[in-house]
Amino acid sequence: MSAPVRSWGRVLETRQAAGDTFWIEVDCPRIAAQARPGQFVMLGTGLGDVAAPFLPRPFSIGAREADGRLGFLVRVFGAGTRRLSAVNPGDELLILGPLGRSFSLPADRPIVCLAGGVGLAPFLFVGADARLEKRDVRIVYGERTGDRVFDPELIRRITGVEPDLRTEDGSLGRRGLVIDDLDLDDQPQLLACGPDPMLRACADLALRHGLPLQVSVEEHMGCGVGTCQGCVVLSAAGEWIKSCTEGPVFDARELA
Ligand SMILES: Cc1cc2nc3c(=O)[nH]c(=O)nc-3n(C[C@H](O)[C@H](O)[C@H](O)COP(=O)(O)OP(=O)(O)OC[C@H]3O[C@@H](n4cnc5c(N)ncnc54)[C@H](O)[C@@H]3O)c2cc1C
Ligand code: FES
Repeated sequence: MSAPVRSWGRVLETRQAAGDTFWIEVDCPRIAAQARPGQFVMLGTGLGDVAAPFLPRPFSIGAREADGRLGFLVRVFGAGTRRLSAVNPGDELLILGPLGRSFSLPADRPIVCLAGGVGLAPFLFVGADARLEKRDVRIVYGERTGDRVFDPELIRRITGVEPDLRTEDGSLGRRGLVIDDLDLDDQPQLLACGPDPMLRACADLALRHGLPLQVSVEEHMGCGVGTCQGCVVLSAAGEWIKSCTEGPVFDARELA
């Protein structure tokens, strides 16, 4: 894996993709050239941003185009994501990446992505790459309510995949969870990204069906490069491991 790069990237396009969720495209060829699906970057506006200085935050790489463009899904949680959601074309973002371990996709199985909330982001990249390689990929995407659903038309544009939408209140797509009523007869490779309870449910599902599962965890991260210890997760062997450098993608059997 090549070394991460710190680079300024110019914002090319932003759009609101759901009530509190934005899609931001940035010109950043040096990082785009190395990025692999499942990796993330630390994204910030730099300490010179007098409007709202904040430490860079981790974001999955949601898209990588041949022209050097990167795409990020940003959902507003606090001050940092609120500031990022307000950037405009022409603004510069400070980007460190690509970071972490990517998904490892076996050639002999179809791929089923199980996405909860902002856990959709890495699967936009997985879907687009799989389409280029003519791989069979399905994206099952769940949110609590319909107003949080990332624009399905944009998902189709980025990935070429028709998402299988689920909402807990049934206001958009099928009512239910991403693990409900799945057709797994073709023995797919499962990939999952979302909140911890969802990842546990996906691990149970994989065990019940004897299917391989890789999960991408979303622990809080201070540095993204292995120095602050802010991102540790418990391994199956009972050891604390850093999700920024050992993950964020793990074989589910590696984790407690
Ligand atoms: C590897 C990785 C990839 C990610 N990819 C994306 C992405 O593609 N799109 C996206 O919108 N978000 C993503 N996130 C989450 C994103 O990094 C956080 O939402 C962001 O750091 C919050 O910053 P803030 O300054 O807005 O909020 P803060 O002020 O830092 O926090 C606001 C609130 O959110 C809570 N919070 C912050 N981070 C997390 C977290 N990781 N998990 C649970 N609660 C949290 C805080 O405890 C606090 O209550 C990712 C996180 C990781 C670790
Ligand atoms: S985020 Fe600092 S060690 Fe992982």
